[in-house]
Amino acid sequence: MGKKVIEIENLFVELDGITVLENVNLTVNEYDFLGIIGPNGGGKTTFLRVLLGLVKPARGKVRIMGNPVEKNRHLLGYVPQYAVFDRSFPISVEEVVVSARLARKQGIRFSNEDYRIAASALERVEMLPLRSRQMGELSGGERQRVLVARALAVQPRILLLDEPTASVDSRFAAGFYELLRELNREMTLILVSHDISAVSSYVKTLACMNRTLYYEHSRELNREMIENTYNCPVDLIAHGIPHRVLPPHDGVVGS
Ligand SMILES: Nc1ncnc2c1ncn2[C@@H]1O[C@H](COP(=O)(O)OP(=O)(O)OP(=O)(O)O)[C@@H](O)[C@H]1O
Ligand SMILES: [Mg+2]
Repeated sequence: MGKKVIEIENLFVELDGITVLENVNLTVNEYDFLGIIGPNGGGKTTFLRVLLGLVKPARGKVRIMGNPVEKNRHLLGYVPQYAVFDRSFPISVEEVVVSARLARKQGIRFSNEDYRIAASALERVEMLPLRSRQMGELSGGERQRVLVARALAVQPRILLLDEPTASVDSRFAAGFYELLRELNREMTLILVSHDISAVSSYVKTLACMNRTLYYEHSRELNREMIENTYNCPVDLIAHGIPHRVLPPHDGVVGS
């Protein structure tokens, strides 16, 4: 077992007087790759925001590498679920990525080292050739890659990704998961996604979040876990490989 990088005990979160997360308990070890799936509104994004110190828990303990969130949030890289860009806002790809370095410094001037780190992050997501492009001139998938580069420019120990493949095509998604596999050699990953089938073949551990966290120390989904979370019947798991087969049932529009 590796070092514990995230420890959560008895976490409760309330938003607008409503309990959004309740009694979440989780330990993530260094170099783990945790996938979190769950229905819309299940609390996945809120959970990541708690780790980032953007949402205060009503109750419970959250530790990042042994310290309270405020002390260690610089160890976290974050790729948000929705990146709303004003397309007319003049900012280049390189500027977006290097701006991640601001969190690490006192002044506002970037050093050559900052630009070197930004370039290397862009290289990893194959966006270096477009470094001078305006953000408003990128496709959705290209923008997503830039946001991953931005998170990497923080040089995080833990990378949080919220639906990072939502707007990328399947070719890029496959390459993207390979990139995550590579990054996972250097850092701990937590990936939130709706796409059970994509996630489950890459992550090491899978959890379901629906108000609370259902957590197994294996990547294999089991029916009970999914049914508890989604509250719907699922046919899956053949030879350890989950299939995305959701039989029609109330509340879900079948295809
Ligand atoms: N700022 C807020 N104030 C009040 N309620 C909120 C706020 N943010 C989120 N919620 C509510 O908290 C619940 C969990 O939302 P959250 O965004 O964490 O879900 P999610 O699992 O990320 O969903 P999705 O799959 O749609 O992204 C939802 O019911 C949502 O309406
Ligand atoms: Mg979300």
